[in-house]
Order: sequence, then structure tokens, then C-alpha cells
Amino acid sequence: MTDTPRYGFGTLQIHAGARPDPATGARQVPIYQTTAYVFRDAEHAAALFNLQEVGYIYSRLTNPTVAALQERVATLEGGAGAVCCSSGHAAQIMALFPLMGPGRNVVVSTRLYGGSITQFSQTIKRFGWSARFVDFDDVEAIAAAIDEDTRAVFCESIANPGGYITDLDAVAKVADAAGLPLIVDNTSATPYLCRPIEHGATLVVHSMTKFLTGNGTVTGGCVVDSGKFDWSASDKFPSLSEPEPAYHGLKFHETFGPLAFTFHGIAIGLRDLGMTLNPQAAHYTLMGIETLSLRMERHVKNAVEVAGWLEKHPAVKAVTYAGLPSSPWHDRVARICPKGAGGLFTVTLKGGYDACMTLVDSLEIFSHVANLGDTRSLVIHSASTTHRQLTEEQQIAAGAAPDVVRISIGIEDAKDLIADLDQALAKAG
Ligand SMILES: Cc1ncc(COP(=O)(O)O)c(C=O)c1O
Repeated sequence: MTDTPRYGFGTLQIHAGARPDPATGARQVPIYQTTAYVFRDAEHAAALFNLQEVGYIYSRLTNPTVAALQERVATLEGGAGAVCCSSGHAAQIMALFPLMGPGRNVVVSTRLYGGSITQFSQTIKRFGWSARFVDFDDVEAIAAAIDEDTRAVFCESIANPGGYITDLDAVAKVADAAGLPLIVDNTSATPYLCRPIEHGATLVVHSMTKFLTGNGTVTGGCVVDSGKFDWSASDKFPSLSEPEPAYHGLKFHETFGPLAFTFHGIAIGLRDLGMTLNPQAAHYTLMGIETLSLRMERHVKNAVEVAGWLEKHPAVKAVTYAGLPSSPWHDRVARICPKGAGGLFTVTLKGGYDACMTLVDSLEIFSHVANLGDTRSLVIHSASTTHRQLTEEQQIAAGAAPDVVRISIGIEDAKDLIADLDQALAKAG
């Protein structure tokens, strides 16, 4: 499918990136379970290795099943290109890798998935990188945190776990004024609910493990490049603008233009970091994306119903769902994610930590797992699990205080989910 702007989301989620297999006519994208690809001749091999011709060499770098998925996610996000990788966390490193270097920092939102907070506050230090955590509702604080060594600004569109929505337009303006790329983790929203590039994002990252695949079968990630950032406008991004010694002095931005970040991600990122997505996983994600809009509509409809019911329950202190009129971020829904605020929110129980533990142990339909974005409804007590490594102050800032449970609403019948919560809340007191 080449004429993508003509088609709607529901058509593109099935057809973008997919063509009948040229060898067999297979209608579904085949799983190209191969490590290597036969070169036409010695000259062809040399051209591929020199990036003079685009094609398949070795599946650590490129694979036709993965390429179909890359094209599909890039199309749905409105990007120029995409690189898939082995997990959402891998995607975050792949997004930062071409931008950062020893001594450089990234300014990030305090409202992030707990694992991302740990990755940014601890692990990236081993590369000599650092992260500065800021409340992204305070745009002046974001601007103040940016200095000469800042190379990116990072946030989530709909934040996990709090049901918080970032004002992407306002954050993009700050990043833009500083000449920096804005990276948006769009995992909880998906491109069906939110298209960060339309709000000024340079790069969009995904954990495809969640709603994109949608059924809890895959670990995968993706980095989508808008193709809009001028990597040569300053001397801050030499990996993209300066000669690359590993390719005989090739300059990625000069050579590949809007696809510079994507080509760098494959030719340097996947080649040398090796965080490759396997073709089986790409197949499952392609299957999942075919029904993305239908699932997201149902996730949103169920979440509105269940969150509204929970908000009125006597055992419940608060529900943080931006889809509820009571949410301080409700006004942002129409502008940032006009088709709904997603399927993820937290519930604060009056009974505190112990009541949360009883709730998760008493639910029958909800699965108690460290995941979100499944067809199944899922629950977790973040403070004792996913956000366990954080201080209580960080937990509270991330919306994961000890009296909070996170709920990922599935696509079951809302009345059954409400009945299940009702019986479990009765036990939790
Ligand atoms: C918002 C968000 N981003 C990134 C990740 C990391 O993704 P993965 O588990 O695929 O590495 C997660 C995982 O829960 C997440 O919720």
C-alpha cells in the first residue's frame, strides 16, 4: 500500500506495510524465519554492506516480517520510518543512543512507568548519561532543567500508571525552543488514541508488548521517527550530522535526510547493540494491530464505565482516570487523545496498603500480573512490585503510592468486571 494518506486508520492498521508475498502470493505477511539472505552476486553484497543499496543482509539488522511491522507502526503514527526492537525498554535505549554521549543528559517527566524511572535514574549512568526528573505540568521547570549538555526531552503521552495526560503541545514548544528532540512514549495511548507527532514529537517509542500486540504474547518495542528534526542545525548530534567512522565517513543526515534516524537505528543501533525483534514476535504484533482500533474503542468504553462506578464506591478514596470529568487532566483528553483516555488508571483505597493487597488477592476475572494492555483485565499493586525499587517520594510522584492499585481494563463485558470488583472490594473493606 503506497498511497497511505488516502486511507483511514481502520484500513491502514490492516494493510500498511503488507503486500502479497512476491514469491508465493501469500496474502498474510509470512514469518520470514531466516537468519541470512542470499546475495545476487558479490557486487550486490558489497553495495548492501556499504549502505549504497537497501536490502536484506542478516536478521539482526533487517527482516521482511519485521520490516512490514516497522512500516505499519510508522504509518499509523504518521512518521517517516521506524525501527523495531526487542522490548519497550530496548526502544528507549535505541531512541537515546544516537543522541547521547558521556556527560549528556535527558530531561524526563516524573510521571513515567516505574521501570523507566529506574532505567533513567540508575542504569543509564553506566553509559555516562544522566536524567533530570521534572514535573512536566511546569513548563518553566522543564526549560530550567535544560542545559548545554541536554540532548532530549522525554515523557509518556498517557502516563503509566496514573491516568495522567501530558500536554504534549506545551512540552514540544519548550523542546523546540531549546533545539532538542521530544521523545514521547505512546505505549498506553497507542496511535489510535494519540498521535504525538501531530503535537510536535520528534520520536515516538512504544512497548509493543502492551496494546499494540494486545493479547499478552509478545515482548517488543519500536522507535518511530517523525523525519522532521534538523539534526544538522547544531553541533549537538554528531552521530547523525558528522562523518561516521564505521561507514567510511558517511553522514547519516546528509545522506538519508528524513530517514537519517531510522537508518542510523538499523545500521548502527541494531548492528552493534543487537536488541533485535524476532520475526515470530513481529507476526504476533502485526496480527494484534489489525484489530487495534476495535480493541481500543472497547478498552475506553469499559474503562469509562468501570472507573465511573469505582469512583462512587464507598471503599474508594480516588480514581485517577482522565476520562472522568473529575480528573484534573480531563480537559486535555479532547485535545491530546480525542478518541478517549485509554484503559489504564489507578484506584486509591480508603483501607490503604492492606486493603490493596486483599483486593488483588480476591479478584477472579482480573489477573494479578505485571503487565498492561491485554484483552484481559489486569491488576497490580505497583508500590510493592513494578515501582518497588523507588523511594516512597518517587512512588507518590509516579502515581504509585502504597494505597494505590493499578488497573488495566480489558475488553470483557463491563458488567462482569464491575461485579468482580464489587465482590473483591467487599472483602477488602
Ligand atoms: C509505558 C511503558 N513504557 C515502557 C515499558 C517497557 O516495556 P517493555 O516491558 O516492553 O520493555 C512499559 C512496561 O510496562 C510501559 O508500561
